[in-house]
Amino acid sequence: MRLLRLGFVIALASGLAAILIYITGVSNPDWSFHISNEDLEALRSLQSHFQQCVSANGLGLQAVSGRDYCEITMKFPMETVPKWRDPKTGELEGLSFDFNLCEAVATWEQVRNTTTILTREYIDALPNGWEEYAWRRINKGVLLNRCENRTLCMEKLSLVLPQRPPYIPRQFGRCAVIGNSGDLLKTKFGNEIDRYDAVVRENGAPIENFTEYVGTKSTFRLLNRGSAKALDKVAELYDKGKEVLIVKTTIHDIMSKMIREVPILNPVYLILGSSFGSAAKGTGLKALEFALSMCDTVDMYGFTVDPGYKEWTRYFSESRQGHTPLHGRAYYQMMECLGLIKIHSPMRADPNRVVKWVPSHSLITAARIASEKVLRRIGAGSADPLAACSIIEKRQKGKITSMSGFKKAAIEHQKYVKGTTMYPLEHNPGHGLLCMVP
Ligand SMILES: *[C@@H]1O[C@H](CO)[C@@H](O)[C@H](O)[C@H]1NC(C)=O
Ligand SMILES: *[C@@H]1O[C@H](CO)[C@@H](O)[C@H](O)[C@H]1NC(C)=O
Ligand SMILES: *[C@@H]1O[C@H](CO)[C@@H](O)[C@H](O)[C@H]1NC(C)=O
Repeated sequence: MRLLRLGFVIALASGLAAILIYITGVSNPDWSFHISNEDLEALRSLQSHFQQCVSANGLGLQAVSGRDYCEITMKFPMETVPKWRDPKTGELEGLSFDFNLCEAVATWEQVRNTTTILTREYIDALPNGWEEYAWRRINKGVLLNRCENRTLCMEKLSLVLPQRPPYIPRQFGRCAVIGNSGDLLKTKFGNEIDRYDAVVRENGAPIENFTEYVGTKSTFRLLNRGSAKALDKVAELYDKGKEVLIVKTTIHDIMSKMIREVPILNPVYLILGSSFGSAAKGTGLKALEFALSMCDTVDMYGFTVDPGYKEWTRYFSESRQGHTPLHGRAYYQMMECLGLIKIHSPMRADPNRVVKWVPSHSLITAARIASEKVLRRIGAGSADPLAACSIIEKRQKGKITSMSGFKKAAIEHQKYVKGTTMYPLEHNPGHGLLCMVP
Protein backbone atom coordinates (compact mmCIF):
# COMPACT_ATOMS: atom_id res chain seq x y z
CA MET A 1 0.00 0.00 0.00
CA ARG A 2 2.78 2.41 1.01
CA LEU A 3 4.73 1.56 -2.08
CA LEU A 4 1.70 2.14 -4.22
CA ARG A 5 1.14 5.51 -2.67
CA LEU A 6 4.79 6.41 -3.20
CA GLY A 7 4.50 5.35 -6.81
CA PHE A 8 1.45 7.52 -7.20
CA VAL A 9 3.22 10.52 -5.69
CA ILE A 10 6.19 10.08 -7.99
CA ALA A 11 3.94 9.79 -11.00
CA LEU A 12 2.03 12.86 -9.95
CA ALA A 13 5.21 14.81 -9.30
CA SER A 14 6.74 13.95 -12.66
CA GLY A 15 3.46 14.83 -14.34
CA LEU A 16 3.44 18.20 -12.62
CA ALA A 17 7.08 18.76 -13.49
CA ALA A 18 6.32 18.05 -17.11
CA ILE A 19 3.46 20.52 -17.04
CA LEU A 20 5.65 23.09 -15.33
CA ILE A 21 8.42 22.70 -17.89
CA TYR A 22 5.82 22.96 -20.61
CA ILE A 23 4.33 26.15 -19.19
CA THR A 24 7.62 27.89 -18.43
CA GLY A 25 9.09 26.69 -21.70
CA VAL A 26 6.20 28.17 -23.60
CA SER A 27 6.00 31.48 -21.80
CA ASN A 28 9.75 32.04 -21.84
CA PRO A 29 10.84 30.60 -25.13
CA ASP A 30 14.22 32.29 -25.04
CA TRP A 31 14.95 31.07 -21.52
CA SER A 32 16.88 34.16 -20.55
CA PHE A 33 17.05 33.37 -16.85
CA HIS A 34 20.54 32.00 -16.76
CA ILE A 35 21.95 33.05 -13.42
CA SER A 36 25.67 33.60 -13.80
CA ASN A 37 28.42 33.70 -11.22
CA GLU A 38 28.48 37.47 -11.61
CA ASP A 39 24.79 37.56 -10.67
CA LEU A 40 25.40 35.54 -7.54
CA GLU A 41 28.39 37.69 -6.72
CA ALA A 42 26.22 40.82 -7.07
CA LEU A 43 23.62 39.41 -4.66
CA ARG A 44 26.30 38.36 -2.21
CA SER A 45 27.91 41.77 -2.37
CA LEU A 46 24.53 43.48 -1.93
CA GLN A 47 23.85 41.45 1.19
CA SER A 48 27.23 42.26 2.65
CA HIS A 49 26.98 46.02 1.97
CA PHE A 50 23.42 45.96 3.17
CA GLN A 51 24.34 44.37 6.47
CA GLN A 52 27.13 46.86 7.04
CA CYS A 53 24.80 49.70 6.10
CA VAL A 54 22.08 48.61 8.53
CA SER A 55 24.64 48.16 11.27
CA ALA A 56 26.14 51.63 10.63
CA ASN A 57 22.87 53.55 10.26
CA GLY A 58 20.13 51.52 11.89
CA LEU A 59 20.41 52.77 15.49
CA GLY A 60 20.71 49.25 16.87
CA LEU A 61 19.06 47.31 14.06
CA GLN A 62 21.07 44.46 12.57
CA ALA A 63 20.56 42.60 9.31
CA VAL A 64 21.34 38.90 9.17
CA SER A 65 21.54 36.68 6.09
CA GLY A 66 18.74 34.21 5.66
CA ARG A 67 18.58 30.88 3.91
CA ASP A 68 19.40 32.13 0.44
CA TYR A 69 20.87 35.04 -1.49
CA CYS A 70 17.65 37.01 -1.21
CA GLU A 71 16.43 36.53 2.32
CA ILE A 72 17.43 38.94 5.05
CA THR A 73 16.28 39.18 8.65
CA MET A 74 16.16 42.55 10.38
CA LYS A 75 16.63 42.18 14.11
CA PHE A 76 16.02 44.72 16.83
CA PRO A 77 18.23 44.58 19.95
CA MET A 78 16.99 42.11 22.55
CA GLU A 79 16.23 44.87 25.04
CA THR A 80 13.77 46.58 22.68
CA VAL A 81 10.35 46.78 24.29
CA PRO A 82 7.60 46.30 21.72
CA LYS A 83 4.54 48.37 22.54
CA TRP A 84 2.14 47.59 19.78
CA ARG A 85 -0.33 44.74 20.06
CA ASP A 86 -2.11 43.14 17.17
CA PRO A 87 -5.76 43.96 17.84
CA LYS A 88 -6.84 40.64 16.33
CA THR A 89 -4.52 38.23 18.12
CA GLY A 90 -3.56 40.39 21.10
CA GLU A 91 0.07 39.54 20.47
CA LEU A 92 2.92 41.98 20.89
CA GLU A 93 4.86 42.92 17.79
CA GLY A 94 7.97 40.77 17.29
CA LEU A 95 11.57 41.93 17.23
CA SER A 96 12.69 40.33 14.00
CA PHE A 97 11.38 40.68 10.47
CA ASP A 98 12.20 38.75 7.31
CA PHE A 99 12.47 40.64 4.06
CA ASN A 100 13.25 39.54 0.56
CA LEU A 101 15.98 41.84 -0.71
CA CYS A 102 15.67 40.57 -4.29
CA GLU A 103 11.98 41.34 -4.34
CA ALA A 104 12.60 44.77 -2.82
CA VAL A 105 15.43 45.78 -5.13
CA ALA A 106 13.64 44.55 -8.27
CA THR A 107 10.29 46.13 -7.47
CA TRP A 108 11.49 49.44 -6.06
CA GLU A 109 13.96 50.03 -8.88
CA GLN A 110 11.10 49.51 -11.28
CA VAL A 111 8.99 52.06 -9.40
CA ARG A 112 11.60 54.67 -10.28
CA ASN A 113 10.83 54.23 -13.97
CA THR A 114 7.07 53.87 -13.85
CA THR A 115 4.24 56.33 -13.48
CA THR A 116 1.98 56.11 -10.45
CA ILE A 117 -1.02 58.22 -11.48
CA LEU A 118 -4.06 56.47 -12.89
CA THR A 119 -4.86 57.71 -16.39
CA ARG A 120 -7.49 57.21 -19.01
CA GLU A 121 -5.00 55.76 -21.49
CA TYR A 122 -4.03 53.12 -18.92
CA ILE A 123 -7.59 51.89 -18.47
CA ASP A 124 -8.16 51.98 -22.22
CA ALA A 125 -5.00 49.97 -22.92
CA LEU A 126 -5.49 47.39 -20.17
CA PRO A 127 -7.25 44.31 -21.54
CA ASN A 128 -10.83 44.63 -20.24
CA GLY A 129 -9.63 47.71 -18.37
CA TRP A 130 -13.11 49.07 -17.84
CA GLU A 131 -14.79 45.77 -17.00
CA GLU A 132 -12.03 44.36 -14.80
CA TYR A 133 -10.26 47.33 -13.36
CA ALA A 134 -12.02 50.70 -13.54
CA TRP A 135 -15.01 49.84 -11.39
CA ARG A 136 -12.69 48.87 -8.54
CA ARG A 137 -11.57 52.48 -8.34
CA ILE A 138 -15.14 53.72 -7.89
CA ASN A 139 -16.77 53.57 -4.50
CA LYS A 140 -19.48 50.90 -4.53
CA GLY A 141 -18.11 49.90 -7.92
CA VAL A 142 -19.71 46.47 -7.65
CA LEU A 143 -23.06 48.12 -8.19
CA LEU A 144 -21.84 49.26 -11.59
CA ASN A 145 -21.90 45.69 -12.81
CA ARG A 146 -18.37 45.79 -14.20
CA CYS A 147 -19.00 49.08 -15.90
CA GLU A 148 -21.79 47.66 -18.01
CA ASN A 149 -22.70 51.25 -18.67
CA ARG A 150 -19.29 52.56 -19.55
CA THR A 151 -20.51 56.13 -19.96
CA LEU A 152 -21.60 56.11 -16.35
CA CYS A 153 -18.24 54.71 -15.23
CA MET A 154 -16.35 57.31 -17.22
CA GLU A 155 -18.54 60.01 -15.80
CA LYS A 156 -17.71 58.92 -12.27
CA LEU A 157 -13.99 58.85 -12.90
CA SER A 158 -13.76 61.84 -15.22
CA LEU A 159 -12.88 64.42 -12.56
CA VAL A 160 -9.81 62.51 -11.44
CA LEU A 161 -8.72 60.82 -14.65
CA PRO A 162 -6.22 62.67 -16.86
CA GLN A 163 -5.73 61.28 -20.35
CA ARG A 164 -1.99 60.98 -19.84
CA PRO A 165 0.37 60.98 -16.87
CA PRO A 166 0.86 64.47 -15.49
CA TYR A 167 4.40 63.62 -14.24
CA ILE A 168 7.37 61.78 -15.64
CA PRO A 169 10.18 59.92 -13.88
CA ARG A 170 12.88 62.23 -12.42
CA GLN A 171 10.80 65.31 -13.21
CA PHE A 172 11.65 66.66 -9.76
CA GLY A 173 15.15 66.76 -8.32
CA ARG A 174 15.20 66.52 -4.53
CA CYS A 175 11.93 65.58 -2.85
CA ALA A 176 10.91 65.32 0.79
CA VAL A 177 8.12 63.11 2.08
CA ILE A 178 6.76 64.31 5.41
CA GLY A 179 5.04 61.86 7.75
CA ASN A 180 2.81 62.87 10.64
CA SER A 181 4.79 61.56 13.58
CA GLY A 182 4.94 63.44 16.87
CA ASP A 183 8.72 63.14 16.57
CA LEU A 184 8.61 66.08 14.17
CA LEU A 185 8.22 68.43 17.13
CA LYS A 186 11.62 67.43 18.49
CA THR A 187 13.65 69.05 15.71
CA LYS A 188 13.15 72.27 13.75
CA PHE A 189 13.31 70.85 10.26
CA GLY A 190 11.16 73.62 8.72
CA ASN A 191 13.80 75.59 6.80
CA GLU A 192 15.49 72.44 5.62
CA ILE A 193 12.22 71.01 4.29
CA ASP A 194 11.41 74.21 2.40
CA ARG A 195 14.60 73.86 0.38
CA TYR A 196 13.40 70.73 -1.44
CA ASP A 197 12.13 70.92 -5.02
CA ALA A 198 8.91 69.17 -4.08
CA VAL A 199 7.35 68.30 -0.73
CA VAL A 200 4.84 65.48 -0.27
CA ARG A 201 2.55 65.49 2.76
CA GLU A 202 -0.15 63.18 4.03
CA ASN A 203 -3.83 63.38 4.88
CA GLY A 204 -4.84 66.20 7.21
CA ALA A 205 -1.32 67.23 8.26
CA PRO A 206 -1.47 70.96 9.01
CA ILE A 207 1.26 73.45 8.15
CA GLU A 208 -0.03 76.58 9.83
CA ASN A 209 1.28 76.93 13.42
CA PHE A 210 3.88 74.21 12.81
CA THR A 211 6.03 75.78 10.09
CA GLU A 212 9.18 75.83 12.24
CA TYR A 213 9.00 72.05 12.38
CA VAL A 214 7.40 70.97 9.15
CA GLY A 215 8.14 73.84 6.74
CA THR A 216 5.71 75.83 4.61
CA LYS A 217 6.10 74.29 1.18
CA SER A 218 3.63 71.67 -0.01
CA THR A 219 3.49 70.30 -3.52
CA PHE A 220 1.55 67.06 -3.14
CA ARG A 221 -0.71 65.52 -0.53
CA LEU A 222 -1.48 61.79 -0.37
CA LEU A 223 -4.95 61.04 0.94
CA ASN A 224 -6.45 57.92 2.45
CA ARG A 225 -10.13 57.20 2.26
CA GLY A 226 -11.11 59.23 5.30
CA SER A 227 -9.23 62.35 4.18
CA ALA A 228 -10.52 62.04 0.64
CA LYS A 229 -14.08 62.13 1.90
CA ALA A 230 -13.26 65.37 3.72
CA LEU A 231 -11.65 66.84 0.62
CA ASP A 232 -12.97 70.35 1.28
CA LYS A 233 -11.23 70.47 4.69
CA VAL A 234 -8.00 69.05 3.30
CA ALA A 235 -7.98 71.49 0.39
CA GLU A 236 -8.05 74.37 2.88
CA LEU A 237 -4.88 73.29 4.64
CA TYR A 238 -2.61 74.91 2.09
CA ASP A 239 -2.93 77.86 -0.31
CA LYS A 240 -6.19 77.07 -1.98
CA GLY A 241 -5.74 75.22 -5.22
CA LYS A 242 -1.95 74.98 -5.03
CA GLU A 243 -1.39 71.46 -3.74
CA VAL A 244 -1.95 68.44 -5.94
CA LEU A 245 -4.16 65.94 -4.11
CA ILE A 246 -3.49 62.26 -4.70
CA VAL A 247 -6.10 59.78 -3.54
CA LYS A 248 -5.00 56.31 -2.51
CA THR A 249 -8.36 54.56 -2.66
CA THR A 250 -11.50 54.99 -4.72
CA ILE A 251 -13.40 57.98 -6.04
CA HIS A 252 -16.47 58.61 -3.96
CA ASP A 253 -19.62 60.46 -5.01
CA ILE A 254 -19.07 62.79 -2.04
CA MET A 255 -15.67 63.67 -3.47
CA SER A 256 -16.97 64.35 -6.96
CA LYS A 257 -19.70 66.54 -5.59
CA MET A 258 -17.21 68.58 -3.60
CA ILE A 259 -14.81 68.93 -6.52
CA ARG A 260 -17.66 70.30 -8.62
CA GLU A 261 -19.60 72.31 -6.11
CA VAL A 262 -17.24 73.66 -3.44
CA PRO A 263 -15.39 73.85 -5.87
CA ILE A 264 -12.02 72.22 -5.25
CA LEU A 265 -9.49 74.01 -7.44
CA ASN A 266 -6.63 71.61 -6.78
CA PRO A 267 -5.84 68.92 -9.30
CA VAL A 268 -7.03 65.58 -7.87
CA TYR A 269 -5.71 62.22 -9.09
CA LEU A 270 -5.91 58.58 -8.09
CA ILE A 271 -2.71 56.71 -7.39
CA LEU A 272 -1.83 53.65 -9.41
CA GLY A 273 0.52 51.71 -7.20
CA SER A 274 2.73 48.68 -7.31
CA SER A 275 2.18 46.04 -4.73
CA PHE A 276 4.68 45.33 -2.01
CA GLY A 277 2.62 42.80 -0.16
CA SER A 278 1.29 43.33 3.32
CA ALA A 279 4.51 45.06 4.35
CA ALA A 280 3.56 48.24 2.66
CA LYS A 281 -0.01 49.32 2.77
CA GLY A 282 0.16 52.56 4.74
CA THR A 283 -0.20 56.05 3.34
CA GLY A 284 3.44 56.72 4.24
CA LEU A 285 4.76 54.02 1.97
CA LYS A 286 2.46 55.05 -0.85
CA ALA A 287 3.78 58.59 -0.48
CA LEU A 288 7.34 57.28 -0.80
CA GLU A 289 6.36 55.23 -3.83
CA PHE A 290 4.77 58.25 -5.45
CA ALA A 291 7.84 60.39 -4.75
CA LEU A 292 10.23 57.72 -6.03
CA SER A 293 8.32 57.58 -9.31
CA MET A 294 9.03 61.23 -10.16
CA CYS A 295 11.98 62.44 -8.09
CA ASP A 296 15.73 62.02 -8.41
CA THR A 297 16.22 61.65 -4.66
CA VAL A 298 13.73 61.14 -1.86
CA ASP A 299 14.24 62.16 1.76
CA MET A 300 11.89 61.23 4.54
CA TYR A 301 10.89 63.17 7.67
CA GLY A 302 8.44 62.43 10.48
CA PHE A 303 8.10 58.65 10.23
CA THR A 304 8.95 57.65 13.83
CA VAL A 305 12.06 55.76 12.90
CA ASP A 306 14.06 56.21 16.09
CA PRO A 307 14.26 53.76 18.98
CA GLY A 308 11.78 54.40 21.80
CA TYR A 309 8.89 55.09 19.44
CA LYS A 310 5.64 56.52 20.64
CA GLU A 311 3.37 55.05 18.08
CA TRP A 312 0.23 56.86 19.02
CA THR A 313 1.23 60.46 18.64
CA ARG A 314 0.92 62.80 15.72
CA TYR A 315 2.54 66.19 15.67
CA PHE A 316 -0.84 67.91 15.54
CA SER A 317 -3.09 65.74 17.67
CA GLU A 318 -2.94 63.30 20.51
CA SER A 319 -4.26 59.97 19.45
CA ARG A 320 -4.14 57.88 16.37
CA GLN A 321 -4.46 54.29 15.44
CA GLY A 322 -0.87 53.14 15.16
CA HIS A 323 0.14 49.93 13.48
CA THR A 324 3.27 47.76 13.33
CA PRO A 325 5.76 50.51 14.16
CA LEU A 326 8.76 48.19 14.48
CA HIS A 327 8.00 46.52 11.20
CA GLY A 328 7.76 49.95 9.61
CA ARG A 329 11.05 51.05 11.11
CA ALA A 330 12.79 47.93 9.78
CA TYR A 331 11.23 48.39 6.35
CA TYR A 332 12.31 52.03 6.06
CA GLN A 333 15.81 51.11 7.15
CA MET A 334 15.86 48.52 4.40
CA MET A 335 14.81 51.20 1.92
CA GLU A 336 17.57 53.50 3.12
CA CYS A 337 20.16 50.75 2.77
CA LEU A 338 18.97 50.01 -0.76
CA GLY A 339 19.76 53.63 -1.63
CA LEU A 340 16.11 54.54 -2.18
CA ILE A 341 15.59 57.12 0.54
CA LYS A 342 17.42 59.03 3.23
CA ILE A 343 15.95 59.10 6.71
CA HIS A 344 15.84 62.33 8.74
CA SER A 345 14.77 62.08 12.36
CA PRO A 346 15.62 63.59 15.75
CA MET A 347 18.42 61.07 16.19
CA ARG A 348 19.60 61.53 12.63
CA ALA A 349 19.13 65.28 12.42
CA ASP A 350 22.33 66.31 10.62
CA PRO A 351 21.18 67.30 7.13
CA ASN A 352 24.61 66.34 5.81
CA ARG A 353 24.58 62.87 7.33
CA VAL A 354 26.03 60.41 4.89
CA VAL A 355 24.36 57.02 4.73
CA LYS A 356 27.42 54.86 5.27
CA TRP A 357 27.89 51.66 3.31
CA VAL A 358 24.94 52.32 1.06
CA PRO A 359 25.45 50.09 -2.01
CA SER A 360 26.78 51.95 -5.04
CA HIS A 361 24.58 52.66 -8.02
CA SER A 362 26.39 50.05 -10.11
CA LEU A 363 26.02 47.40 -7.41
CA ILE A 364 22.30 48.14 -7.12
CA THR A 365 21.92 47.78 -10.88
CA ALA A 366 23.82 44.47 -10.95
CA ALA A 367 21.82 43.16 -7.97
CA ARG A 368 18.57 44.33 -9.52
CA ILE A 369 19.30 42.43 -12.75
CA ALA A 370 20.29 39.31 -10.79
CA SER A 371 17.14 39.60 -8.69
CA GLU A 372 14.94 39.88 -11.76
CA LYS A 373 16.45 36.63 -13.00
CA VAL A 374 16.04 34.88 -9.65
CA LEU A 375 12.43 36.03 -9.52
CA ARG A 376 11.94 35.17 -13.20
CA ARG A 377 10.58 38.60 -13.93
CA ILE A 378 9.61 39.43 -17.46
CA GLY A 379 12.53 40.88 -19.41
CA ALA A 380 15.09 39.94 -16.76
CA GLY A 381 18.66 40.44 -17.89
CA SER A 382 17.72 42.16 -21.14
CA ALA A 383 19.45 45.34 -22.27
CA ASP A 384 16.27 46.50 -23.97
CA PRO A 385 14.53 49.07 -21.75
CA LEU A 386 11.16 47.84 -23.02
CA ALA A 387 11.84 44.18 -22.23
CA ALA A 388 9.76 44.33 -19.04
CA CYS A 389 6.68 45.46 -20.97
CA SER A 390 4.17 42.64 -21.12
CA ILE A 391 1.53 44.84 -22.73
CA ILE A 392 2.59 47.37 -25.34
CA GLU A 393 0.14 49.84 -26.82
CA LYS A 394 0.72 52.61 -29.26
CA ARG A 395 -0.32 55.94 -27.85
CA GLN A 396 -3.21 57.60 -29.63
CA LYS A 397 -1.84 60.54 -31.49
CA GLY A 398 -2.28 63.77 -29.65
CA LYS A 399 -0.10 66.58 -28.63
CA ILE A 400 3.45 65.51 -28.00
CA THR A 401 4.69 66.36 -24.53
CA SER A 402 7.29 69.06 -24.87
CA MET A 403 10.43 68.21 -22.97
CA SER A 404 11.63 71.78 -22.70
CA GLY A 405 11.87 72.93 -19.11
CA PHE A 406 12.48 69.44 -17.78
CA LYS A 407 15.60 68.59 -15.83
CA LYS A 408 18.47 66.85 -17.56
CA ALA A 409 17.89 63.59 -15.68
CA ALA A 410 14.25 63.48 -16.81
CA ILE A 411 15.15 64.17 -20.44
CA GLU A 412 17.88 61.53 -20.42
CA HIS A 413 15.50 59.02 -18.94
CA GLN A 414 12.90 59.73 -21.62
CA LYS A 415 15.57 59.15 -24.26
CA TYR A 416 16.53 55.88 -22.61
CA VAL A 417 12.94 54.59 -22.65
CA LYS A 418 12.33 56.04 -26.14
CA GLY A 419 9.48 58.21 -24.93
CA THR A 420 7.62 55.24 -23.45
CA THR A 421 5.36 55.61 -20.43
CA MET A 422 5.50 52.57 -18.16
CA TYR A 423 2.68 51.65 -15.83
CA PRO A 424 2.74 48.99 -13.13
CA LEU A 425 0.23 46.19 -13.50
CA GLU A 426 -1.26 46.54 -10.05
CA HIS A 427 -0.74 43.74 -7.54
CA ASN A 428 1.38 41.90 -10.07
CA PRO A 429 4.99 42.99 -9.91
CA GLY A 430 5.94 39.74 -11.59
CA HIS A 431 3.72 40.24 -14.57
CA GLY A 432 5.56 43.03 -16.27
CA LEU A 433 4.46 46.50 -17.18
CA LEU A 434 1.92 48.14 -19.39
CA CYS A 435 3.80 50.38 -21.79
CA MET A 436 2.49 53.19 -23.95
CA VAL A 437 4.88 53.83 -26.80
CA PRO A 438 4.79 56.96 -28.95
C1 LIG B 1 -25.68 55.09 -18.89
O1 LIG B 1 -25.31 56.15 -18.05
C2 LIG B 1 -25.59 57.42 -18.60
C3 LIG B 1 -24.94 58.49 -17.71
O2 LIG B 1 -25.39 58.42 -16.40
C4 LIG B 1 -27.09 57.60 -18.73
O3 LIG B 1 -27.40 58.85 -19.27
C5 LIG B 1 -27.63 56.49 -19.62
O4 LIG B 1 -29.03 56.55 -19.66
C6 LIG B 1 -27.19 55.13 -19.12
N1 LIG B 1 -27.52 54.10 -20.11
C7 LIG B 1 -28.21 52.99 -19.83
C8 LIG B 1 -28.45 52.05 -20.95
O5 LIG B 1 -28.61 52.76 -18.69
C1 LIG C 1 -3.24 78.21 14.73
O1 LIG C 1 -3.27 78.83 15.99
C2 LIG C 1 -4.31 79.78 16.16
C3 LIG C 1 -4.13 80.44 17.49
O2 LIG C 1 -3.97 79.51 18.52
C4 LIG C 1 -5.65 79.08 16.01
O3 LIG C 1 -6.71 80.01 16.11
C5 LIG C 1 -5.72 78.39 14.64
O4 LIG C 1 -6.91 77.65 14.53
C6 LIG C 1 -4.53 77.47 14.45
N1 LIG C 1 -4.53 76.91 13.12
C7 LIG C 1 -4.53 75.62 12.85
C8 LIG C 1 -4.54 75.20 11.44
O5 LIG C 1 -4.52 74.78 13.75
C1 LIG D 1 15.42 52.85 -15.19
O1 LIG D 1 15.91 53.81 -16.06
C2 LIG D 1 17.30 54.07 -15.98
C3 LIG D 1 17.63 55.17 -16.97
O2 LIG D 1 17.02 56.37 -16.61
C4 LIG D 1 18.07 52.79 -16.29
O3 LIG D 1 19.45 53.01 -16.14
C5 LIG D 1 17.62 51.70 -15.35
O4 LIG D 1 18.24 50.49 -15.71
C6 LIG D 1 16.10 51.51 -15.41
N1 LIG D 1 15.68 50.56 -14.40
C7 LIG D 1 14.89 49.52 -14.66
C8 LIG D 1 14.47 48.69 -13.52
O5 LIG D 1 14.54 49.27 -15.78
